[in-house]
Order: sequence, then C-alpha cells, then structure tokens
Amino acid sequence: MDKKVFDFIEAEKKRQSEGLELIPSENYVSREVLEAMGSVLTNKYSEGYPNFEGLDGDDDEVIASTDAGHRYYGGQDNTNIIERLAIARARRLFHADHANVQPHSGAQANNAVYNAWLEPGDTVLGMNLGHGGHLTHGAPVTQSAHIYNFINYGTNLETGDLDYEEIERLAKEHQPKILLVGYSAFMKVPDFERIAKIGQSIPGCLLMADMAHVAGLIAGGVHPNPLDYGFHVMTTTTHKTLRGPRGGLILSRGAVGNPLRKPEHTLENIPTLIDRSVFPGTQGGPLEHVIAAKAVSFYEALQPEFKEYAAKIVENAKALADGLKEHGFKLIGNGTENHLILINVIDSYGIDGKTFERALDKIGLTLNANSIPNDTRKPFEPSGVRLGTPAITTRGLGVAEMAQIADWMQKTAEVCAGKRETAELDAMREEVRELALRFPLPSEK
Ligand SMILES: Cc1ncc(COP(=O)(O)O)c(C=O)c1O
Repeated sequence: MDKKVFDFIEAEKKRQSEGLELIPSENYVSREVLEAMGSVLTNKYSEGYPNFEGLDGDDDEVIASTDAGHRYYGGQDNTNIIERLAIARARRLFHADHANVQPHSGAQANNAVYNAWLEPGDTVLGMNLGHGGHLTHGAPVTQSAHIYNFINYGTNLETGDLDYEEIERLAKEHQPKILLVGYSAFMKVPDFERIAKIGQSIPGCLLMADMAHVAGLIAGGVHPNPLDYGFHVMTTTTHKTLRGPRGGLILSRGAVGNPLRKPEHTLENIPTLIDRSVFPGTQGGPLEHVIAAKAVSFYEALQPEFKEYAAKIVENAKALADGLKEHGFKLIGNGTENHLILINVIDSYGIDGKTFERALDKIGLTLNANSIPNDTRKPFEPSGVRLGTPAITTRGLGVAEMAQIADWMQKTAEVCAGKRETAELDAMREEVRELALRFPLPSEK
C-alpha cells in the first residue's frame, strides 16, 4: 500500500474537519457522492453518448428507455443508464432541453461552448476579470483569448452592479457572436431579462450564462435561472454551490439531435453542436465515475431539503456581510445578494489581501486573496479577500456562528495591522477548531 499518499489524505481530512472553509467556490460533498467518485466506473471507457430519447419521465422511465446509444466501445449497459440519469436529472433541475454532463471542468465546459459556436477571430462580450469575471472569459493568458476576440464590460463602482448601459453600448458597437454573463466575484443578481433583450437585438448572438458559482442557488430556487429568460446556454461547475463532484456541465435550450450527424449551424441546433464540440471536439473519454457522482448530486439537489440549504447559504452570507460591516470591514457593493462577499481590506485595515489570507490560514479560516474592481495592486497581493458561505452552511453553521466568524476576522486583521499581539492567533486557532469540530463534515457523520 502507498502509505505516503494515504497519510496525506488523512491529514487533509483532519485539516478540513478542524478548520472552516470560507472559499466560496468550495463545498463538502456527501458520502454517497464520494463513493460514486471512488467507484469501479473509473475503469471504463465510454467515448460517445447514450441515447437521448425518453428523458422526460421519472428515473424509472429514463432507465427503461435506455438502449445501446452512440458509443465507440462495448460494455456500456450500466454507464449508459448512469449517464442518462445524470442528463435527465440535470434537465429537470435547470429546466433545460438538453444537458451535456461530460465536461471535465468548468473551463472545459466554457471552451466547448466557444468551440461549438465560434470561428477563430469571432467576438465574445464578457465580464472583465478585474471586475469579477472569470479567467475563461478571455483573460489574455488563456488559450481561448488567443483564438477569439474578447471584449469586456465592467461593473458600476458605486453600486457594484453590472453596467447595463455599457453592455448595450459595447454589444451594438462590436456585434458579438456570444454575449456572456458569468463571474466568480460578483455579489448582485443579474437582470437576465435585460441582458437577453440586448443579445436578441444582435443577429446570430448566442446568449451564454456561466453560472459556475450560483448553480446551487438556481437549483434551490433562490436565484433566477437564465434559461428561463431566453438564454440559449448555461455552463456551470458541479462542485461549488451545487455540491457535487469536481466537474463541468452544459445546459442548453433547442432541438436535441443525433450527435453522430453534423447539424446546420443554427441557434436551434446548439444542443447537438455542443455535444459534438465536447466529444470529439475538445475531450476524449468521459469520466463515468464523476458522471455517476454528478447524477447522485443532482438527485440530492432535487430533494426539498436542498431548497432549504440554498436559502440558508444566502441568509448566512447576508448575516456574515452585516457582521463584517459592523466589525469595520468595507465590502464591495456594500453587501451581498448571493453566497459571495468581497472585502476591500486595504481600505478597511490597511493590509493587503495576501497578508490577511495567510494570517487567517493560521487560525483555521480558509479564504482567498482577490482583486477588487479597478485594483491598483498586483493580482498576487491584491487589495481584497473573497469569501462565502456554501461550505460552512453544508456543515450546519447558522447566523449565530457568522457573528463569531466576523469577530475572529476583525481580531486577525488587527493582529496584521499591529494593533494586537500575534499570540492571539494561537488562542483563536483553538476556538476555531472547537467550533469546527461541533459541525462534522457530511462524509464523516
Ligand atoms: C465563473 C467560473 N467559470 C468557470 C470556472 C472554471 O471551473 P474549473 O475550475 O472547474 O475549470 C470557475 C471556477 O472557479 C468559475 O468561477
């Protein structure tokens, strides 16, 4: 047995149990999701797709109408059913006509959509990374930025909201082939209807929403679903608020065809264009063990308790934001409407985000340094930190604990600013451990 690796897995389990995870893109999965991921399905090659008929019914009907599908390898009796269950549940969860559950990650999902709809040199209008957008939305260091022409819109610095007038102006000027809404550090709820109207006024413009961060809130009914407002495509990761395994997912509206046949390049055919772009366009064999874990997590997200979970994430984030403000922190957008909080720590306590992140690591609170809109500091030592509540809400922490976290954060900031003794960090480490151990990880219960 490879004791070395397993010892470090045990050490990581202890780190997760004894600390509090405030990184807003992380979560703790259930034991069942972990088991599906660690199953014999990892042994199987399943290039291609199952059949897409009969996906409207309940799970039993989905299983009953499974056939050989469009696979390039034999032995797919079980993988076909599992992938069909994942697709059917994802469609139910997000009101989609189609779901591709094969993207290995959120980045792969986004690249597959670009590749499905764009020619090299085509224009995409997306959110500026420095204002909360994502690397995969055209940051110059990415492959997609070398292939396509990305134009960026930003946020209104006073309100923290999207600048809809700027989006409209840039869309008219640049006539993008994709209008993209999505972000990893934005605390408002976008007006999808207004953005859809802008996209619909541009001929051949695909409306794409990258909801990697808020997919769990959408599934839980506490955030609007862009597919309900005229968007053609929604991409997401499955491991953030959605609380599934690490992976990607593409949902779409339109006609679902046979992925072996090349369809006409129309918005109506976007589901099949995407299937062909995922495989063989940008990926090889799907990870059926991860697809099984996605299916399990979609099942969990379809249960009534997930609605309560999603509502609690937002309730906790609002309580934490209020607590942080009471403890002297300045927040971008002055608060939050979702699970995310972005603090301007330079303006609050005169310390940079990296220094604060490292000090909080010492007491067992994990979050990440993050740029703030129009940050004048370097990305590795930015002015802000980003945090959120999906993971701690999964563990069962509530509003009372949010006040405690805000208090620890203030004291830690004061240590960094030289207003308190460094030794106070050790005492806080014990307090955090004590509280964390009262709320076991779901896979350890
Ligand atoms: C908005 C958004 N899109 C895409 C991604 C990329 O996901 P992954 O890390 O799975 O490639 C992320 C991850 O942070 C994200 O926040």
